[in-house]
Amino acid sequence: MTHILVTGGAGFIGAHTCKALALMGYQPVVLDNLSTGYRDFVQWGPLVQADIADTTAVAATITQYGITAMMHFAGSIVVPDSVRDPLTYYDNNISKSVRLIQTAVDHGVQNIVFSSSAAVYGMPDVARIPVHTPLNPISPYGYNKAVIERLLSDLSTARPDVRALSLRYFNAAGSDPDGQVGESHVPETHLIPLALDALSKKRAALTVFGRDYPTPDGTCIRDYIHVSDLAMAHVQGLRYLAKGGASQILNLGIGQGFSILEVLRTIETVCQMPVPFVWGLRREGDPARLVADADASRRILDWTPVHTSLDKIVADAWAWRRA
Ligand code: UFG
Repeated sequence: MTHILVTGGAGFIGAHTCKALALMGYQPVVLDNLSTGYRDFVQWGPLVQADIADTTAVAATITQYGITAMMHFAGSIVVPDSVRDPLTYYDNNISKSVRLIQTAVDHGVQNIVFSSSAAVYGMPDVARIPVHTPLNPISPYGYNKAVIERLLSDLSTARPDVRALSLRYFNAAGSDPDGQVGESHVPETHLIPLALDALSKKRAALTVFGRDYPTPDGTCIRDYIHVSDLAMAHVQGLRYLAKGGASQILNLGIGQGFSILEVLRTIETVCQMPVPFVWGLRREGDPARLVADADASRRILDWTPVHTSLDKIVADAWAWRRA
């Protein structure tokens, strides 16, 4: 069986991807320091509890399992924290990633799938964002992702034996339809889990950040993609690289935008309960609209998202949160 090194495999997207890998016949080997990940999320292969910058642990894991492909999810992801504490973000997301990638390629890893973000675009003023849109990250987090994308592209130019796929996620949401893993972050900052917590009275009312955006209802529009579809795109990406596909950067979204109020209405319909919310000020750094042009990803990766309705995303998120 082919072993795949999955950094951050105990986190939300990493764990869902481990499940997808196992379903498709791969053996994920999770490397995670459990600083924000969950031991219980590691269900489809061994866990190596170590930091990505622990070069000894990374090298030993790669050698032990004969690994030639890596998916790199581990990193710090809270955009406002990256603004408050850039040194930690540059260290975790750039310095440590460089050490990880260097150790990986030195020990025979040739195919790398990297977890990037739509945050690299900043505030683009287009209806659907194509991947060639000029990058203009407005947070250290977004800039960190752009730097590692660039590193991987420079590396694959210098080392034709190394191929890399950087996947720019739009809004990953929902939970495993079988309920084995789900969306959970500490601290939680994402819209759907916070709205579900407000609805079930686990938290105070949701604050909707801003009602004066230049969108039809004044609230921000996002492209929500089911995490299981996102996970399957990674597996397809791995297969693409394994077949000798060239290094690429791709968007992962559905290509359809929903405003915050539309998301809240969907939650109320699916859960049959009202979401208590209050209006708040705009959150710093939120673009009005972020919707992917992800047509190239479908074609290049031979990937077809299947859970494309917002109802399904919310229903799976709700089922997992209730359980
Ligand atoms: N929102 C609220 N109230 C909340 C939480 C969120 O109104 O309590 C709003 C946000 O302002 C935003 C929308 O809901 O307009 C979605 O917010 P999320 O925090 O769920 O997601 P983001 O769009 O901010 O973040 C996503 C990814 C990040 C990535 C970012 C790029 O999760 O990793 O897109 O802008 F960096």
